[in-house]
Amino acid sequence: MPDTRILYVADDEMKEAVSVACELLRAGEIVALPTETVYGLAADALNAEAVAKIFAAKERPSFDPLIVHIASRGDLKNVAVVPEEIAETVNKLIAAFWPGPLTLILPKHPDIPDLVTSGLATVAVRQSAHPVFRAVVKELNRPIAAPSANRFGRISPTSASAVVKELDGRIPLIVDAGACSEGLESTIISIEPREGKKPIFRLHRAGPITKEQLQEYGRVEKVRAVSQDAPQAPGQLASHYAPVTPLILLENPSDFRPEEGKRYGLLSYTGEDDGPYVGLHDWEQIESLSPGSGKLAEAAIRLFYLMRLLDEAGLDAIIAEPVSETGLGVAIMDRLRRAASKS
Ligand code: TXA
Ligand code: MG
Repeated sequence: MPDTRILYVADDEMKEAVSVACELLRAGEIVALPTETVYGLAADALNAEAVAKIFAAKERPSFDPLIVHIASRGDLKNVAVVPEEIAETVNKLIAAFWPGPLTLILPKHPDIPDLVTSGLATVAVRQSAHPVFRAVVKELNRPIAAPSANRFGRISPTSASAVVKELDGRIPLIVDAGACSEGLESTIISIEPREGKKPIFRLHRAGPITKEQLQEYGRVEKVRAVSQDAPQAPGQLASHYAPVTPLILLENPSDFRPEEGKRYGLLSYTGEDDGPYVGLHDWEQIESLSPGSGKLAEAAIRLFYLMRLLDEAGLDAIIAEPVSETGLGVAIMDRLRRAASKS
């Protein structure tokens, strides 16, 4: 693999980056592209050989299916077969949340290679809202398969420099459009119709579109316990989005038992000096998820960036402060728990 090229996108140069990316995608190559959630590693979804390169570059096991991204609502019929019983609900969800960070699991169209869906009968689909991603998928005129552009099990990249750290030398191109505006991967749901009632939405992964937002259209429930025939979906695996440094989610400050001579960093929520976490210990380093007034939205954008920063700080452990588990806080706590489950 030649060196990884990085193409920086300023608004006026978007055209060039988009056409270079499309040229590579048409040639069956993989490229890292910005989305509003996290950077994705893109391939032509209809080209199984190209899709195989995604799994190789990420060292991702083939049992973990990819999300297919489409250019417009009208393209949904080319990648999925929407059952009559949920057609109205799908239309409402699309009208409310697309383009944007909501992924729908639907019965798959036969044109989608089995490798994309790991042999499942369903396909995960979304329409990204990022102007660069939208321009690429539109110009390519084919659906794009794209997981987050990190090595398997690691922290998702929310900037081009984070992609470099994950995949440098493994892919030919990274399109750099700055930081992602959401910072957490899309919300993933499947839909179960109910006779005469609002449908049930099974939440496969919490994300930027919150339970509160979805509740207008259906009843949100957790995915049932993983059964034998259910997908082995690493989005559902306990250890994921993990730094190399052990991360401990400290739900109760009084449980902290520092070991002599060890270096601890704090991933604080607001970083306020008078909070129960900042004053708990003489921390090597403190990073705040929401130093401004952005609260949970700001925390979501900064979460993976700060996890990465603390991971690179040579600490013995990262201590993470919980955030309130409402709205976006559900997705943030989900990522913190998974990052912590390795430790
Ligand atoms: O925001 C996002 O969703 C980003 C950007 C790039 O679009 N993509 C992303 O992809 O997070 P990835 O591959 O890192 O996570 C996709 C998750 C995986 O946990 C996978 O198991 C699950 O979606 N998934 C994909 N297809 C599925 C299916 N048919 N049924 C159940 N889960 C599925
Ligand atoms: Mg991922």
